[in-house]
Amino acid sequence: MRSAAQGPSTRTSSDRSEWVDRWLSSCSDLAELSLSSPMSDAVIEEIDGRRIRIGDRWLADFASCNYLGFDLDREIAAAIPGYVERWGTHPSWSRLLGSPVLYPEIEERLTDLLGCEDTLVLPTITLIHLSVIPVLAGGGTVFVDRRAHKTIYEGCQFASIRGARIERFQHDDADDLERLLRNDGSTTRLICMDGVNSMTGNAPDLPAFAEIARKYDAVLYVDDAHGFGVIGERGEDELSPYGMRGNSIVRYFGESYDNIIFIAGLSKAYSSLAAFICCPSEIKQLLKTAAPPYLYSGPSPVASLATTLAGLDVNERRGDALRAGLWEKTGRVLRRLDELGVHTPNTSGFPIIEVPLARHEDIAAVGRFLFDSGIYVTLAAYPLVPRDEVGFRVQITAANTDEEIEQLTDALGRLAATFDLQPARRPAKEAAA
Ligand SMILES: Cc1ncc(COP(=O)(O)O)c(C=O)c1O
Repeated sequence: MRSAAQGPSTRTSSDRSEWVDRWLSSCSDLAELSLSSPMSDAVIEEIDGRRIRIGDRWLADFASCNYLGFDLDREIAAAIPGYVERWGTHPSWSRLLGSPVLYPEIEERLTDLLGCEDTLVLPTITLIHLSVIPVLAGGGTVFVDRRAHKTIYEGCQFASIRGARIERFQHDDADDLERLLRNDGSTTRLICMDGVNSMTGNAPDLPAFAEIARKYDAVLYVDDAHGFGVIGERGEDELSPYGMRGNSIVRYFGESYDNIIFIAGLSKAYSSLAAFICCPSEIKQLLKTAAPPYLYSGPSPVASLATTLAGLDVNERRGDALRAGLWEKTGRVLRRLDELGVHTPNTSGFPIIEVPLARHEDIAAVGRFLFDSGIYVTLAAYPLVPRDEVGFRVQITAANTDEEIEQLTDALGRLAATFDLQPARRPAKEAAA
C-alpha cells in the first residue's frame, strides 16, 4: 500500500520530493516551533490540581479544555470503579453490534438537557464530521464557514469525494452565506460552522444563520465543541452571563432545533472521551447504518461513559456555581489585558482568551518567556492561524486556583512590558463587562 507521504502513484520521484518539500515548507514555522518550544509536543510527567510538571519545572496549566474541572472532581472520579466492576474496562463491540445500557441512558439524558428530539453518541467529534457530513451532504452543496474548525473541513473533503460541491462563505458572515444560497440550485444544502469559536471564544450570530437555513430549506450543522457545558439557556435565576445548565449555544440563543443539527463533544467540559449529535430520530436511525463509526469503531471506554453520567449529575447540582466561578476568573484575566491595553478578540467573556502578537517572529521567544514564568498555554503558530493572528491562547477552567490566575495576570504584565503585543481595539469599559 502507498502511504500518503508517497503521493499518488503517477508521480515521478523528483515530483514527489518537490511535493513533499512544498508541503514541509508550508508548515515550517510550526515544525520549527515544535522542535524549539517547550510548550509543543511536551511530555507531562505529573499533575497536581491544575499544575503540571514538565521535566523539573512545575507550571500553571492554562491549556486545558476541562472547563468545569470535572477531570479533577472527586465525586466524578469516585463513580468509575463501580461501573468498571459491572462492565469491565471496555465494551469492545461496535455500537451496531451492541451497546451497554449506559449509552441509551446517556443519550436520553443529553436529549433532556439539550431539549432536542434525539441524540446519538459516537466516540469523537472528528469521527462525527468525517462520517456524518458526507451522509447529510449527499450529492448536494456544503456551505462551510471559511474559518470552520479543521475537522469540519476534513468532513467536507470526504463529502466532496462522494459527490458534494463545497462552497466557502466569509467567516461569521450570514449575508455572504445568503448570497451563495440564493445562487445555488441544488436540492440538498448543508451549512457547516462552529458554535463558540475555538480561538476567539466568541459565538456566531446563530439566530441569523438558523433563519437563513430555514428560509433556503438548508440544514445548519453546528459544532459547539467548546460552548457545550459552558454556555446555556438564559433566565432570571442565572448565576452568570454564561446562562444556565451549560446546554449549548442553541439554548443560549433560545433557538429551536428546526433545521439545526447540533454536534458537541464530552471531551472538553465533561472530561470524557465521547461526542454526540442532536438530530431528529429519523436521522439517528439513518446514521446507525450510514455512519461508519457506529458500525465499525471501538466505543468509548467504560470510564468515560461513567464520568459522563456522573458529570451530568454534577452539572445538575453544581454546574451553575462552577460556571459562575469560571466567569469571574475569566473576567479577571480579561480586565488585566484591558488595563495593559492589550488586544484580545474575546468579546464574550468565554474562558478562551487569545492574545495575538504584534510580530509573529516573536512566537518562540514569547513561548519561552511564559514557560519560564511557570505558565503553560497553547501557542498558535502559522499556518494554524494567519500570520497576523500568531500568538497564544489561554484557557481558564473552574479548577484553576486564584493563585494561578494571579500568576497568569502577573506574567501577562511582564510579557507586555517585554514584547510587542497588539494594542487594544475597544474602549476598556466595554471589555469583560
Ligand atoms: C471546534 C472543534 N471541533 C472538533 C474538535 C475535535 O474534537 P474531538 O477530539 O472530539 O474529535 C475540536 C478539538 O479541539 C474542536 O475545537
